[in-house]
Amino acid sequence: MIKLLNLNKSFFMGDEEIKAIDNVNFEVKKGEYVSIIGPSGSGKSTLMNILGLLDVPDSGEYILDGVNTKDLTDGELAKLRNKKIGFVFQNFNLLSKLTAWENVQVPLIYQGISSKESKKIAFEYLEKVGLKGRENHLPKQLSGGQQQRVAIARALCCKPEIILADEPTGALDSKTGVEIIEMFKKLNEEGQTIILITHDNGIAQKAKKIVRISDGKLYDEEAIENG
Ligand SMILES: Nc1ncnc2c1ncn2[C@@H]1O[C@H](COP(=O)(O)OP(=O)(O)O)[C@@H](O)[C@H]1O
Ligand SMILES: [Mg+2]
Repeated sequence: MIKLLNLNKSFFMGDEEIKAIDNVNFEVKKGEYVSIIGPSGSGKSTLMNILGLLDVPDSGEYILDGVNTKDLTDGELAKLRNKKIGFVFQNFNLLSKLTAWENVQVPLIYQGISSKESKKIAFEYLEKVGLKGRENHLPKQLSGGQQQRVAIARALCCKPEIILADEPTGALDSKTGVEIIEMFKKLNEEGQTIILITHDNGIAQKAKKIVRISDGKLYDEEAIENG
């Protein structure tokens, strides 16, 4: 489903080159649940932005469902992103003036679904993430964990092929974090492909496959354990 081949991305600070992604090769198959773990500054968000088609690499290939993304225009990339990828961020990224159900409705409206139908779908997905009865709450009237559930409902409602979650428990207390991770596990058991990015070992261990990132280079767990 996802294939990265010899991927590179650098940032420049004056004359200094920072290799945020350093010759990465990586594959994710349909139905997998992969954690990418690494310390702050190791390149996790840069990798997530590339995987999520929010940024492009300097060199190398990113093949998504058989499509080489370097052949696509910005418009085509945006379309592919809306169709295939659901994002979950550390800070939820909810719109503060919209209620829970209106937040979930936003991407559905972008997809051209009618307001009546999209409201119905938003309510269904809020129920799925355990927020029945909270549909009309504003983000500030919800706890952090509940806000993250709204964000997960918003990511799921367009039936994305892949959920990309960047530090989804980073702003939550550990008990709430575990609840969110349990939800990802359940979604994966239902067939959802998930890539979870974290600096937290305990969180990473819940995934079926763990990959480490350090200074922009990827290593799978086995390779590390075997030296
Ligand atoms: N827009 C940018 N400009 C300059 N340097 C950047 C930029 N984005 C990321 N970096 C650098 O690239 C490296 C990887 O950053 P990032 O992907 O955000 O790491 P992580 O998410 O693992 O904390 C860091 O050294 C960071 O300072
Ligand atoms: Mg980051």
